[in-house]
Amino acid sequence: MRRILVTGGAGFIGSNFVHYLSENTDCTITVLDKLTYAASREALEGLDVQLVVGDVADPAVVDDLVGRHDAVVHFAAESHNDNSLSDPGPFIATNIVGTFCLLEAARRHDVRLHHISTDEVYGDLALEDPARFTEATPYNPSSPYSAAKAGSDHLVRAWVRSFGVRATISNCSNNYGPWQHVEKFIPRQITNVLGGGRPKVYGTGANVRDWIHAADHSSAVWEILQRGRIGETYLIGADGERDNLTVVREILRQLGRSEDEYDLVTDRAGHDLRYAIDSTKLRTELGWAPAYGDFEAGLAQTIGWYQAHESWWRTHKQATEAAYATRGQA
Ligand code: DAU
Repeated sequence: MRRILVTGGAGFIGSNFVHYLSENTDCTITVLDKLTYAASREALEGLDVQLVVGDVADPAVVDDLVGRHDAVVHFAAESHNDNSLSDPGPFIATNIVGTFCLLEAARRHDVRLHHISTDEVYGDLALEDPARFTEATPYNPSSPYSAAKAGSDHLVRAWVRSFGVRATISNCSNNYGPWQHVEKFIPRQITNVLGGGRPKVYGTGANVRDWIHAADHSSAVWEILQRGRIGETYLIGADGERDNLTVVREILRQLGRSEDEYDLVTDRAGHDLRYAIDSTKLRTELGWAPAYGDFEAGLAQTIGWYQAHESWWRTHKQATEAAYATRGQA
């Protein structure tokens, strides 16, 4: 697998994967990215990567590009739940139609495909339930975002079975790290505090997320791409369960502020209670393990990154907070 096409490679998780490939492999890398509000050219600066600006849902762009590569890693997606509640349309177009276009191109050119998905396709778990998601958990998505991702996963499975497309799927938990847009929970709270404001916590802050550093997501995807079994799904997670209040208090503590300097704001409609990943299959079958076992250390590194990249996130901050204000969440 010498020539790799990364869709959504200028976004948060996609660009972290491109950095991983550049540092750890000698692959030739092409990025296909629409450069929406959540992507940035800066995330790829200094890397030996060809950037094609285009839409993954445009067959004219996708077919030719896919045919010139050995493998495609498909990150391109609309990914923010709150946006999917305000305007679901782009989620259907990019996540479902975009995946369909890629699958058709992969089928035509017999190109290996890895599809990046989310643990949200499984719905949520009760707060006190010891259960975690596994590859056998039934699909039960809650939001337009997670329903669109679930739809794309079903398409991938159908194209494997019906047409013999050589594809794998991974469903990962909540990512954090460099280049994450300030609309998402951790960067929103870090940048609020850096700007002299206060973190904004939905509901009571009891919801639980299972945090993984984006670099660990990347290493897992690379293992699956090389050695994963065709047609299989692998869950990716780093045993990082924390409730939202605990994360906010840790951000405040690391930035030298009092741990109760946050605001509770209007809850998200249909807010999933808890996600938790059992990644036993990935760890035992492919021998993968996360490098960032210590969430608080990974968070400290991420806070340092936002402190050093204020000129990047400042450009997005005002519009993002204005959108939250219209929803009563600022
Ligand atoms: O689980 C994987 C998923 O994680 C990915 O598929 C999604 O693309 C990604 O956005 C993330 O989904 P969440 O909805 O869990 O992430 P978000 O950062 O939006 O919110 C994390 C938690 O924090 C969630 O319980 C909502 C809460 N929250 C979020 C924001 C933006 C707040 O309390 N305050 C906030 O300001």
